Amino acid sequence: MVSYEQIFENNRKWVASKQEADADFLQKLSKDQTPEYLYIGCSDSRVPANDIMGLEPGEVFVHRNVANLVCSIDINVMSVINYAVRYLGVKHIIVCGHYNCGGVKAAMLPRDMGILNPWLRNIRDVYRLHKEELNAIRDEGERYNRLVELNVQEQCVNVVKLASVQQEYNKKGYPTVHGWVFDLKTGLLKDLKLDFRKILADIQEIYRLID
Ligand code: CO
Repeated sequence: MVSYEQIFENNRKWVASKQEADADFLQKLSKDQTPEYLYIGCSDSRVPANDIMGLEPGEVFVHRNVANLVCSIDINVMSVINYAVRYLGVKHIIVCGHYNCGGVKAAMLPRDMGILNPWLRNIRDVYRLHKEELNAIRDEGERYNRLVELNVQEQCVNVVKLASVQQEYNKKGYPTVHGWVFDLKTGLLKDLKLDFRKILADIQEIYRLID
């Protein structure tokens, strides 16, 4: 376990190594950010956004919460997406879940989770939407993995429901939305290959928010 003091030592070493690789590193870092990606992932300590994508500081705008949820009444995630889409002009929005997600697991259990109940309710709603498919999976581990994937899919749908995303896409042809799952056992990212344009068309039957 890394001690509290050790972190500052690590930080000084990190600065030194970055400057060694690129003498202008700090000068570039202190300028405006122009990331192409918005990443919405789980808070889980085992899924560090920049590391798994091999991206440097400045290359990805990041939001993380328990089980990578996109709720329309969560002012935090709504602010992040709005800023990323309207002001940073990100080209891609990635919702990235991960197998062995404690939040998703908790939502599968018939248990009072206290303050987490309203948050996990969003995942239970995903289960309800896909109950037939999920209940047909006999193996509990496989069902759990599939719920992780379907949760990512539904959070991507929630991103597409937003006015900022629909309007900017209508004007510029981006951002597009992608659903990924990180596999802790292999370290690999899996692209769920969601059909963004199809999701957009389906969603806009009901949730069209373009004037
Ligand atoms: Co998680």
